[in-house]
Amino acid sequence: MRLKIISNVHPHLLRPVSLVHLHFALLLCCNIMVAQVSVQNPRIENLSNPIGLDIQQPRFCWQLASERRNVLQTAYEIRVASNSHDLVSGKKLLWTSGKTQSEASVWVPYNGPAMVSGKKYWWQVRVWDNAGTVSAWSEPNFWQMGLLGPADWKAKWISLAAPEDSTQPSPMFRKQFATKKKIATATAYISAHGLYEAHINGERVGQDYLTPGWTAYQKRLQYQAYDVTNLLKNGANAIGVTLGNGWWRGNIGWAHVNGFYGSDISLLFQLEIEYADGSRETIGSDGNWKYSTDGPIRYSEIYHGETYDARLEQLGWSLPGFNDTKWSKVAVKDFSKENLIGTYNEPIRKHEIFKPIKIFRTPKGELVADFGQNLVGWVELKAKGKSGDRVVLQFAEVLDKHGNFYTDNLRAARCTDTWILKGGGEEQFEPHFTFHGFRYAKVSTYAKASADEIGYPGELKPENIIAVALYSAMRPAGNFTCSDPLVNQLQQNIQWGQRGNFLDVPTDCPQRDERLGWTGDAQAFSRTATFNFDTHNFFAKWLKDVAADQQPDGMVPWVIPNVLRPRNGASAGWADAATIIPWNMWLAYGDRRILEDQYPSMKAWVEYMRAQSKNDLWNTGEHFGDWLFYSRADDNDGRSAITDKYLIAQCFYVHSTQLLLNAAQVLGKKDEVAAYSELLNKIKTAYLNEYVTPNGRPLSPTQTAYVLALQFDMLPENQREQAAKNLAENIKRYNNHLTTGFLGTPYLCHVLTRFGYNDLAYTLLNQKTYPSWLYPVTMGATTIWERWDGIRPDSSFQAITMNSFNHYAYGAIGDWMYRVMAGLDADEPGYKSLLIKPHPGGGFAEASATLQTLYGTASSKWQRDEKTLTLDVEIPPNTTATILVPSSDAATITEGGKPLPSLPEIKITGTENGYVVLKTGSGKYSFSVKN
Ligand code: BGC
Repeated sequence: MRLKIISNVHPHLLRPVSLVHLHFALLLCCNIMVAQVSVQNPRIENLSNPIGLDIQQPRFCWQLASERRNVLQTAYEIRVASNSHDLVSGKKLLWTSGKTQSEASVWVPYNGPAMVSGKKYWWQVRVWDNAGTVSAWSEPNFWQMGLLGPADWKAKWISLAAPEDSTQPSPMFRKQFATKKKIATATAYISAHGLYEAHINGERVGQDYLTPGWTAYQKRLQYQAYDVTNLLKNGANAIGVTLGNGWWRGNIGWAHVNGFYGSDISLLFQLEIEYADGSRETIGSDGNWKYSTDGPIRYSEIYHGETYDARLEQLGWSLPGFNDTKWSKVAVKDFSKENLIGTYNEPIRKHEIFKPIKIFRTPKGELVADFGQNLVGWVELKAKGKSGDRVVLQFAEVLDKHGNFYTDNLRAARCTDTWILKGGGEEQFEPHFTFHGFRYAKVSTYAKASADEIGYPGELKPENIIAVALYSAMRPAGNFTCSDPLVNQLQQNIQWGQRGNFLDVPTDCPQRDERLGWTGDAQAFSRTATFNFDTHNFFAKWLKDVAADQQPDGMVPWVIPNVLRPRNGASAGWADAATIIPWNMWLAYGDRRILEDQYPSMKAWVEYMRAQSKNDLWNTGEHFGDWLFYSRADDNDGRSAITDKYLIAQCFYVHSTQLLLNAAQVLGKKDEVAAYSELLNKIKTAYLNEYVTPNGRPLSPTQTAYVLALQFDMLPENQREQAAKNLAENIKRYNNHLTTGFLGTPYLCHVLTRFGYNDLAYTLLNQKTYPSWLYPVTMGATTIWERWDGIRPDSSFQAITMNSFNHYAYGAIGDWMYRVMAGLDADEPGYKSLLIKPHPGGGFAEASATLQTLYGTASSKWQRDEKTLTLDVEIPPNTTATILVPSSDAATITEGGKPLPSLPEIKITGTENGYVVLKTGSGKYSFSVKN
């Protein structure tokens, strides 16, 4: 049978492997001067030289670089060895792929002997291209395996030897040991119940923060591996580790549960030393370690902040020779090691640093620093004061309409760091086990044991206070700019929303007592996210937590990791993160393994909906609906855009089934394709019978109802045009405003463009009054707001119970800006083939998008003046492109100043709705069209 695919997914996107493009190969044979191809950005599992991988068959990715156009790889050769010397000599190889005829340059699997725990592997690759040239071998790169099974952990879980609770100070653990010989390499493997910060000989181990990160700990607890060779010394050495409550034991969820994962905080630390003579030694956490709870971190909570008493710093506590006679012996615990996994996504790191743009007194007289950007991280502060003076830092996203520091929207999150000075010179503070979402920091200072503010010691100078952004160290991937500064600010706000809420898990918001992995928000934003940063590993990791926390009946909880009790019902559009995100990852990265890994979870979710349904209709349960849609306080004339929740549920039931079916097709599961095609037909019919009039009008004729019906191909072909017209009229009835919430918004402009209303999509993008994307920008937003009107035009706030100023969901317009406005899209999964289809219009003089695909840089930039339209395009090596140039006649187009017919490497294949369709290979192209 022929597979029915949703029509907004290009058929190529379902094709697992691309074909060799003979056309270009032939053309290139004619080239006489042939530039040498080279290999760049070699990566393994999309990471650069990772330590601690626990994947048995890791995959290689690399990029080709060449001055030439139309570069395709025709063959590759990978080799792997135990050390760089053997590798380069090519003599003692552990594995070689041999010269393999293939275009594949991403996700090429290692196929050698089984991986060995803790072993370091060196690798390099060379390629042949379609001009017959061969590259040099890439520079030697490596990956190092982690500890692959519980038996590899010689270290023991250690904890306090006294009853514990989350109000206790952060414990410090310590171990002194001696190395006996010259050290060749040393690797530390560290995990914790709670959060850890480790030191060796007084130096911080690594630059990662809030480790071991957040996962569905019961089943998946990450450890990190660090190369600590340079931290060790010959002779006496010491390890010191501080633990914090973190997500494990801290106060999490708006119900303020403590100790969701456990009442302990514990450490697991294994140091593997390899001596120059080849012998090995393991130093592991065990009953000989000591701990103290008399350290400086007196309190730490993710929501509430940290209290640091510098007077309690224990000088030299992680150095050898420290007097730890007052420290206690730890308790050894037999906690599971079965759930330990290597770390797959990028760690949380420090990134941008902000100096205050202003330090001022509010009308209430409070001392506030304005960093000019709503960000997520913390403040680092310097001060000079007396021993026992307290500096209290509080955090806010906005000022109220009087200009005062405003924290009501943080709800119960106290977001307060308290720093007690030790006195005697300039001191410096940063917290350890918390983070804040803020633009403003309020600084209050109190003398020892006093409740009266004494004023910051001296003057608070900009050089003494900085804000540091912390987020997962994803590779920056793309950017979008255009001729309108407001839309550029919107793009900045989208990116900052992503930075702030991609802190190891995709969160709804980073500031109030929530900061949870809300599934609906994540799915809505996931496609846009792929354009701003490389989110492959970030989402691959989180999707495994989705599967881990999925219930046995397939129900996907509201938040992942799931810290909400009791069991909540699945909500349509939220739980579908289980299908939507794996599919979006496939589109953006062409990684078939994500689909393979997630397939059981995707299927279980669809089967859950099926089990909930009667007569093919899923119309039970509680749903969030089109969350935060346009709604009026005074709705006498029925203007609020309320979409029936069960209609929405049926749309997402269809959409998830379609995506499951698409995945089944990619994975070659023929029986499942047939079975889910049948289900799809039935549930679409049930939708039509229950919710749509014979003329194609949905039960609740809102923008979201039309958008979902059209985006998910719910309506028969002959009703679609009318439905799109109704949608356009609906928008006009609201004076050219959107009314969509979390579920309709991501697709709104895509649907308008697809059905011929691109001008209206631009009108919505350009709209500056509420509700619109630019309204918050005109109100000074530097991130995406949770609500369309978080701050009303009269500067009053929306409901304090739910008014975050850093919620990325509505930033989902970014996907349309990249793919439609600038026209940079994938024609095959992972951009093996690109679709460049710019949409000049909307009064914009230009729009430009760049994206670091796995193959290299892709870009599309159009500029228009009265006479000429130019389109500059970059297509990465080893990919091809379909480029649609806005013109109805190929004769009006030149490339690099030359008429198209004179350029054999560009093939004109026809015209299509006002575009000339071209096929090209890789390279940079500059098209010009005379108007
Ligand atoms: C969160 C949302 C989430 C929602 C569910 C809120 O409290 O902040 O973004 O999706 O609950 O409706």
